Amino acid sequence: MAKLSICMLLMTFLFSTLCIFSSSVTATFPRSPRRSRLQAYIEASCQTTLYPALCVHSLSTYIGSNTTIQNPKQLAQVALKASLNRALYTRAYLKKVANELKAIKAKEYQTVKDCLEQINDSVDQLSQSIKELRRLDGKEQQGAGGGGDDLFWHISNVETWVSAALTDASSCVDEFPGQRMSKLKATVKGKVLNVAQLTSNALALFRRFASRYQAKKP
Ligand SMILES: *[C@@H]1O[C@H](CO)[C@@H](O)[C@H](O)[C@H]1NC(C)=O
Ligand SMILES: *[C@@H]1O[C@H](CO)[C@@H](O)[C@H](O)[C@H]1NC(C)=O
Repeated sequence: MAKLSICMLLMTFLFSTLCIFSSSVTATFPRSPRRSRLQAYIEASCQTTLYPALCVHSLSTYIGSNTTIQNPKQLAQVALKASLNRALYTRAYLKKVANELKAIKAKEYQTVKDCLEQINDSVDQLSQSIKELRRLDGKEQQGAGGGGDDLFWHISNVETWVSAALTDASSCVDEFPGQRMSKLKATVKGKVLNVAQLTSNALALFRRFASRYQAKKP
């Protein structure tokens, strides 16, 4: 009797191990052709950016969401969204840190406050550029046909705003020169650097999209 239950126990153990193993295999490996095609498209497009690994990582999180990424424009749109989300998160973090530093009258307060203003501007500019890129919908046909001054106007606005957002984030990074700094400053720098790099990637992907219209510019 005892032997039998040990045997059953062993079998139960083996069976559940097998189940756990097979479920983890199915959780990792079933990649639909659509999914891997999209992944390949993202990886190829990200090679044109300055921070390809970060680019792939940030865009891949949108695979499987209800966002469509099928062409250079949608890619730029998603990259801008990723950049804006990071900027929003970083702004909230900087607000919290600035309030804490102010309360204890810390000497880092001014630096963090300046940074907060710059990232706040980046948030604004990135939101504007996402809206502006959406205004291109339906204008691309006209543009490709030769007319469509509107198209170039919107393209140049997006370019201006994303560049400005990048400048703002970068000047915040520049406020933390060198390697040796407090843990707090290093953390702030890391988060802001992330915003700057994502914005740089978004700008590169946007320029890639816009380049096919530059040739047709009147
Ligand atoms: C798509 O996802 C966004 C959030 O990522 C959500 O706000 C929106 O309602 C979703 N749309 C559909 C049709 O599911
Ligand atoms: C952020 O920007 C908005 C408008 O763009 C402004 O009203 C607000 O005061 C700014 N906040 C900070 C902390 O700079």
